[in-house]
Amino acid sequence: MLSYQHDYHSGNFADIHKHLTLRVLFESLLKKDKPFYYIDCHAGSGQYDLQTDKSTKNKEYASGIARIWETMTHPMASKLETTNESVLEAYIKAISTINTKNQLRYCPGSPCLAQQWLRNQDKAHFLELHPQALKSLRRHFKNDSRISLHARDCYEGLPALVPPANIKRGMILLDPSYEQKDEYSRIVSLLVKAYNKWPTAIYAIWYPLLPENRDQYLMRALTKSGIDNILISELTVAQNNEGAGLYGSGMVIVNPPWLTDKTLSQLMPTIAELLSPSLGESVIRYHSRSQGAS
Ligand SMILES: C[S@@+](CC[C@H](N)C(=O)[O-])C[C@H]1O[C@@H](n2cnc3c(N)ncnc32)[C@H](O)[C@@H]1O
Repeated sequence: MLSYQHDYHSGNFADIHKHLTLRVLFESLLKKDKPFYYIDCHAGSGQYDLQTDKSTKNKEYASGIARIWETMTHPMASKLETTNESVLEAYIKAISTINTKNQLRYCPGSPCLAQQWLRNQDKAHFLELHPQALKSLRRHFKNDSRISLHARDCYEGLPALVPPANIKRGMILLDPSYEQKDEYSRIVSLLVKAYNKWPTAIYAIWYPLLPENRDQYLMRALTKSGIDNILISELTVAQNNEGAGLYGSGMVIVNPPWLTDKTLSQLMPTIAELLSPSLGESVIRYHSRSQGAS
C-alpha cells in the first residue's frame, strides 16, 4: 500500500540537496554530445503546487526552495558565494521556467528538472506507482517523445530497462520514501541487480538522516554489495536529537564522474549554511568497503 505523497515535502531542504546533486551529475553527462539515458525509479508527481493544503500543512518548502529562490533572485541579495554558480543558475532557471512573474508557486520535482536538462538525443524513463502521482506525470510529460512513463514497480522495472540497447552512458536515480524499514537493504539489492547488468552507469540513491540511524542499514548493505567507487554526500540542518524528525539528507553516488567530490565539496557547505545558518553542515566522503563508511 502506497501512503507516501511527496506533496507534503516537496521543496524541503532534502529536495534541495538531492536536486542540486542531480544537477552536478547531469552537468558531467552534458559535457559530451553523445546521448545518455536517465531513469527516475521513484518519479513522484513531477512538479508540485506549493499553495495546496498538502504543501502548506508544514510549509517544508519555506526553509528549502523558498530560501534558495529568495537569495538567488532578490535584486539586493548578494549571489551565493560559491564557485559552482552554473549548478545553482541551472536550478534557478529550471524553477523560473515553471513559474510566472518571478513568483515562486511551483516546485520542480526530479522529472521536471530532468526534462529541462535533457537534450534531443537523450532519453528518459520515469517509473511511479501512486495513481495520483501518475496522473500528474501524464499531464506534464506525455507529449515529450524523449520521455517514457511507466506505471511500474521499479523493483521489477529497473532490471528490465538496463542496459539500454544503443546508449552507453546513463544515470539512475533511486529515491524511495523508506516507509518500510527494509527499504534500506532492498534498495541496495536493487542497485546490485542493475549494477550487475550495467556496471558503468552512474547510480544516485537518496536516503534520510533520522535519529534512529537507519541509514546504517544502507551503509552495511553497500559494504556487503562489493561495489567499489562510492561517494557519499550528507547535508545536515539540525542536531541528531532523539525524538526529532529528519535532520539531514544523504546521497550515495556510485561511479561518481570525475571531480564530483570536488564540486560537491565546494557547493554543499554554502547550501548547508544558507538552509540552516547556525547548524548547517556538509560532509563528502568515499565509502570504504573494508570499514563501511570511512
Ligand atoms: C520521494 S518520492 C519521489 C520524489 C521525486 N524523485 C523528486 O525528487 O521529485 C517517492 C515516490 O516513489 C514512489 N514509489 C514508491 N515505491 C515505488 C516503487 N516500488 N516503484 C515505483 N515508484 C515507487 C512513491 O509513490 C513516491 O511518489
